[in-house]
Amino acid sequence: MRLIRVMYHSQSMLAQLPREELDAELMTKSRVNNQRNGITGLLIADDLWFVQVLEGAQKIVWQTFDRIREDPRHLRVMIVEVRDIAAREFGDWSMNLVTRTPETQGVFAKYGAQVLNPSRMSTEQVGKLLNDLSKASGVPVI
Ligand SMILES: Cc1cc2nc3c(=O)[nH]c(=O)nc-3n(C[C@H](O)[C@H](O)[C@H](O)COP(=O)(O)O)c2cc1C
Repeated sequence: MRLIRVMYHSQSMLAQLPREELDAELMTKSRVNNQRNGITGLLIADDLWFVQVLEGAQKIVWQTFDRIREDPRHLRVMIVEVRDIAAREFGDWSMNLVTRTPETQGVFAKYGAQVLNPSRMSTEQVGKLLNDLSKASGVPVI
């Protein structure tokens, strides 16, 4: 089975929502769907931006992405990177939500201080940010 990883960023329309509401509004459904579809990944939700990685079987990742792209809760969905992967890099999570918390604040600060703007970052930087946040964000949530 061909495994791929798709990374995109978008402008959040949910900027005012606190983490708990974001979790209830977006993640509950996403995790149920992803678990069913064998999708794993990470979603960074900062004040203005989302950055998400979806990994799994090629066809189902694109089906999921096509649904997400049409979602009115964000705008200007831009793919940053698509690549084949030999193994899952975020395999513990059906979708881990990462926001600014005491644990992750240091990582956000390292990559651009007050306001994260992934559209101004290189693909490599966005990838590194995701990896660092995944490490900093602690206990897997499935
Ligand atoms: C930033 C963002 C990330 C999302 N991530 C996922 C996801 O990982 N998996 C998923 O199934 N839906 C995700 N969604 C929700 C989809 O856009 C869509 O609402 C949902 O998949 C519809 O599911 P349903 O057809 O089962 O009702 C996301 C939406 C947004 C705005």
